[in-house]
Amino acid sequence: MSAPVRIGILFGGPSAEHEVSCASALGVVRALAAGGHRVVAIGVTRTGGFRLVPEGVLAELRDGVAEGRAIDDRLTVTGPVVELRAGHRAGTALVTATNAPGAVHAKLDVVFPVLHGPFGEDGVVQGLLESLGVPYVGCGILASAVGMDKVAMKRALRAEGVPITPHVSFDAQTYRATDDPEKLVVGLRRPLFVKPARMGSSIGISRVADGDDLAAAVEEALRHDTVVVVEQGVTGRELECGVLGGTRPDASAVGEVRVTGGWFDYRQKYFGDADPMVVPAPLPDDVTERIRELSVRAFAAIGGWGLARVDFLYDEAAGDLYVNELNTMPGFTAHSMYPKVWAAAGVGYREIVDRLVALALARHAERPGVTQAGGPR
Ligand SMILES: Nc1ncnc2c1ncn2[C@@H]1O[C@H](COP(=O)(O)OP(=O)(O)O)[C@@H](O)[C@H]1O
Ligand SMILES: [Mg+2]
Repeated sequence: MSAPVRIGILFGGPSAEHEVSCASALGVVRALAAGGHRVVAIGVTRTGGFRLVPEGVLAELRDGVAEGRAIDDRLTVTGPVVELRAGHRAGTALVTATNAPGAVHAKLDVVFPVLHGPFGEDGVVQGLLESLGVPYVGCGILASAVGMDKVAMKRALRAEGVPITPHVSFDAQTYRATDDPEKLVVGLRRPLFVKPARMGSSIGISRVADGDDLAAAVEEALRHDTVVVVEQGVTGRELECGVLGGTRPDASAVGEVRVTGGWFDYRQKYFGDADPMVVPAPLPDDVTERIRELSVRAFAAIGGWGLARVDFLYDEAAGDLYVNELNTMPGFTAHSMYPKVWAAAGVGYREIVDRLVALALARHAERPGVTQAGGPR
């Protein structure tokens, strides 16, 4: 175990994955507290405000009294409104009362943004934490932003020779200027997957089969972003692999998501009846190894640090594997794929969070120009 530190957990957030984040945070809080760390929980409201979770509520969460939804309700209504500031000692941050910077609620050595989707996983929060000079868990600004942007992600993967599906991308203006949307997707075979470039949770995504309306699918994607990606669909299995580490990261076991009805849409992700995860995925050893190797390469391609879950599409009949996407802050509940694929590799939940905290501190310490005390600001 790494030496005990004061860790601020950011959770909730304005994205559609607010609830998942709350559930993820519960697991992280418990694991860190069990590991002897001092945990300060900061709820991010749906409008992006920060609320300190009161000590009493946190104790209940730690001890297993409150579950899931309860954290969310309490964080948005009860805790004091706070903000994060740079600490007096470099490499630390302060949780202070808003408009009263002298009123310090807590001091933090590390921040763990357990936030999914836009704002928390796309470099925005990472930028805030960089500006404070405090170490934080997970990917930095660039890797987070690249991981969130499906166009940039595909460019990075392709540049490193990681297989991706045939696709095109265009912006709203280009789309509006064309007389026939089919002209934009020439060369791609149906079914197509039409996606907003920067979203998540399958929001704004449509599957367009023969006879389906491509224009309607593009309009739907454009409701969520100004850039749209259209991919050729892969008929096959969905496989996922965890990556954990820094410059020499490890890959976990491989898990499978057994999707019904063609693809993994929002409803199935969050309201599906049956648990769709099979871990480890039944696969020939050579396919498992190829997935693990490609996961590490994909992680390196975006400049990842800390963790990511790499998602694959596998056309079994053709023997073709494609990296569909990387999630730089994957779901982190006890029932989520990321902890499951690591458990299957012999790495428990507590060990994952402990390693992540150590990696956050290591990245901060190794940065050129940063001294033992935290360095210049
Ligand atoms: N090219 C594709 N071929 C087949 N299925 C796809 C393809 N792209 C996406 N899907 C389906 O849509 C789901 C969501 O797409 P994904 O790119 O992972 O978006 P998100 O970032 O919202 O999770 C996938 O889990 C998969 O079921
Ligand atoms: Mg996905």
